[in-house]
Amino acid sequence: MNLQDLIDLKTKALAEAEAAGSADALEAVRIAYLGRKGLLPEIMQQLRDVSPEERPQFGKTANELKNELSDIIKSKQSGFSSCASVGVGFDLTQPGQWQGLGTRHPITQITDRIVRIFQTLGFTVADGPDIETVWNNFDALNTPADHPSRDEQDTFYLKNGDLMRCHTSPVQVRYMMENKPPIRIISPGRCYRRDTPDATHSANFHQIEGLYVDEQVSLADLKGTLSYFARELMGPDVKVRFRPHFFPFTEPSVEVDFTCHVCHGKGCRVCKNSGWIEILGAGMVDPNVFSAVGFDQSNLSGFAFGMGIERITMILYGIHDIRNLYENDVRFLSQF
Ligand code: PHE
Repeated sequence: MNLQDLIDLKTKALAEAEAAGSADALEAVRIAYLGRKGLLPEIMQQLRDVSPEERPQFGKTANELKNELSDIIKSKQSGFSSCASVGVGFDLTQPGQWQGLGTRHPITQITDRIVRIFQTLGFTVADGPDIETVWNNFDALNTPADHPSRDEQDTFYLKNGDLMRCHTSPVQVRYMMENKPPIRIISPGRCYRRDTPDATHSANFHQIEGLYVDEQVSLADLKGTLSYFARELMGPDVKVRFRPHFFPFTEPSVEVDFTCHVCHGKGCRVCKNSGWIEILGAGMVDPNVFSAVGFDQSNLSGFAFGMGIERITMILYGIHDIRNLYENDVRFLSQF
């Protein structure tokens, strides 16, 4: 082999390395030229047969071939391996790699849906802390000192006398202490009760609170608003029933049922043959609550309501066990 042959070989080797389109092709080039039985070691052995005039240049070119080829191979190799690690190859015919998109938790989805319905009516979102004072959670809400919900059996108390709020109603109190009517708020959030977990109970669950305070707000407004909400949430055919009830912070108080989403009121297993499903609690704000927050109530009135988000989520999605909502099993969550 003379010098010109070697120069041609170098050009060819570098071109082959540049053209290699995969890690395997590149490795084949490396083996062919630089491998133990490759062309370059063979050429080096021929060095002594080269004429003395060409020998220095021949040696230099052989070295260049070795170094330049190694450099190209090294830089392309790292390119191939970094492509492999992000899942992008150069074979455009290969099916893509699915990276797995997350979904919003069903509780979040239903919360957003409910909030949006009330936002279209002019309600804005208000927020409050999970840790509350006894005053905000019970006293200001006209809850008698001997009311069972205050019991340590039912509510988590902290060492400093505060508590984990057992409903979102203290947000009403906070908001009225800081804002003047007219008030239209909706407040989603976590609540805590000393419940033993089972298929329908959890010590930590979510509620959405609503509060509307203005002049001359009537029970008819409450019924109209919640009926609109029912139709937006369940569809135009749903019927709504208001049953007298008692809450310390509303007077009169009602419990609100929707016609069963499964049998549409005919009666089935889900609604225990009644045709109705209990959805929320509501009522006209008790005057004692207005007094507690310092509102002059002579011409003020309002309504409030509260609903459990887990319950509504379970009804809408046909989930039978509340615990499914907290286990974060991707096989469950990815269905929503
Ligand atoms: N706070 C009540 C509960 O947790 C729900 C409710 C809110 C009722 C507002 C009336 C008015 O059951």
